[in-house]
Amino acid sequence: MKRSLTSVATAMTLLVAGTHSVLGAEPLSVLHWWTSGGESKAIRVLKDDMNKQGYQWKDFAVAGGAGAAAMTALKTQVISGNAPSAAQVKGPLIQDWASQGVLVNIDQSATDWKAHSPAQIDNTMKANGHYVAAPFSVHRINWLWINKADLDKVGGTPPTTWPEFFALADKFRAAGITAVAHGGQPWQDMTIWETVVLSQGPDFYRKALVDLDQKTLTSPQMVQVFETVQKIRTYFDKGYHGRDWNLATAMVISGSGGMQFMGDWAKGEFANANRKSDVDYVCAAAPGTSNAFTYTVDAFVFFQQNGKKEATPGQLALARTIMSPDFQQQFSLYKGSIPIRLDVPMDKFDDCAKKSRTDELATIKSGGFLPSLAFGELHSSATAGAITDAVTNFMNSNEDPEEGVRKLAAAAKVK
Ligand code: BGC
Repeated sequence: MKRSLTSVATAMTLLVAGTHSVLGAEPLSVLHWWTSGGESKAIRVLKDDMNKQGYQWKDFAVAGGAGAAAMTALKTQVISGNAPSAAQVKGPLIQDWASQGVLVNIDQSATDWKAHSPAQIDNTMKANGHYVAAPFSVHRINWLWINKADLDKVGGTPPTTWPEFFALADKFRAAGITAVAHGGQPWQDMTIWETVVLSQGPDFYRKALVDLDQKTLTSPQMVQVFETVQKIRTYFDKGYHGRDWNLATAMVISGSGGMQFMGDWAKGEFANANRKSDVDYVCAAAPGTSNAFTYTVDAFVFFQQNGKKEATPGQLALARTIMSPDFQQQFSLYKGSIPIRLDVPMDKFDDCAKKSRTDELATIKSGGFLPSLAFGELHSSATAGAITDAVTNFMNSNEDPEEGVRKLAAAAKVK
């Protein structure tokens, strides 16, 4: 009797607290670019979680892989005085927004983040020593996704070098399969090019794309990179121009496409289509990149609301939830990524994610854990944009590799 009275009392307290938070909580307006099947499923976990905590979720999803359109929409919202409660932003743009004086400090929600995150990632979530961004997960970029039935059909194995890659691509072509499923959008062109740069070794990548060292950018090795990219292009199908990334992934899911170079959000699409790794598809490090890991980390930043400099209770709850172990796990299971938090168990994840975690830890030690230029983890928008223009122009013209290299080196000087 006594116990049941206590539980009634507890239930009533919870009810009152719950009612209070539903009535009192502010709506959360959230801008992001997660609109594909796998992406939507992943962000819905957060929406449902915030709804349960009593917050209304106002969704501003801006379609467009890699977020260029979303970043334009965000600028418009902030300039017109309608800054969202939270927005998906990453890399140096986090500090850019902070330096505009429009973000709030979320230190209160981040008390255990440092202890459980890779230092290289944790540091980028701060401005002037304070947390202003909450990270979702680690995506690996240097993956090659291969349709397993196609691979078996042509009697191939996952390629570990470029000669092996081109030999497999020839087999796919001979079997009437589009060897490389690609979407001709600047950021997807950059994904391939950056991965080929990485295949020259982590040191080459660092000197070329992190340090923007002119000698490396104009080296014979860089000419080779452009030659390889030019050859990869000959394996695209006719309809590649402007294709969205998830439609290219759908080609590999159905088997009309043999392979795709793409970050592991592609795995979110495979999972969403009930496809299993090693059964329906293979994930392999792109040729020549098994000792390296190019990464991008999605994060939310939080904007001042109603002219107040402090974070609102809803923003603090949102930041806390994003980095909570349960959310970190479920989000990455749907998204194809791995949790930021190193204390989240990996037993529910597939082999690709487990490999990603092992390689993450190994490359953090070896120096092969590198920020992706293609995904906004390096340099100002002006510099990254100029390099993207040079690469995408090369991929969509008959420019020779030496000319491509010259334009790249000039682009790297844009400030
Ligand atoms: C983001 C991913 C997203 C991908 C495609 C990348 O910039 O980091 O989360 O799935 O773009 O939209």
